[in-house]
Amino acid sequence: MGKRSSIIKTLRDIAFDHADAPVPDLASMARDFGSMLHARHAEVDEALGALRQRRRGFERWMLAERATPAISVLVMAWPPGYATPVHDHGGLWGLEATLSGALEVESFLKDPQLESLRSIGRTWLGPGDATWFEGTDDHAHRCRNLSRHDTALTLHVYGGDLAQYLAYEQPGPSDHWIARPRQSIIAGRLTA
Ligand SMILES: [Fe+2]
Repeated sequence: MGKRSSIIKTLRDIAFDHADAPVPDLASMARDFGSMLHARHAEVDEALGALRQRRRGFERWMLAERATPAISVLVMAWPPGYATPVHDHGGLWGLEATLSGALEVESFLKDPQLESLRSIGRTWLGPGDATWFEGTDDHAHRCRNLSRHDTALTLHVYGGDLAQYLAYEQPGPSDHWIARPRQSIIAGRLTA
């Protein structure tokens, strides 16, 4: 089995094993990814490094998906300085881990009645670090590649197919936010 194949299968298996539980233990999933990514960081870089060299902008790659229990596993490539809008995850639970590079994640609490979002903190993720959220409707975040020079790679696990989500814009200085539907565009599939 090649290194790329081995890494892809290992990442998929960690995600699928944890997602078999009725309520996945995301902290435990994050620990398993963290120890695997620390132990095998050179192999991960070798297996997925080509995604950092493409220079085609922000890209999502499907690593694995399953209908029951529902789960999708993606790798995303972040150009230098790239930042997402504030966005939700369609009510799905999710985990996002850094494979290479460093990301800033700012989390928001959503109040659907007031159409407002409140920042509730920032975290910084280096290689092997992860953040996660439960499948609630009140969570949103925005993420940014902290490097001005290097493409970052991240791993994303969601409790379903995140084909659509909402991105939020704040048109003025008030607390009012406007939600716009977005489609997740997949650049391709990573095959083991
Ligand atoms: Fe996200």
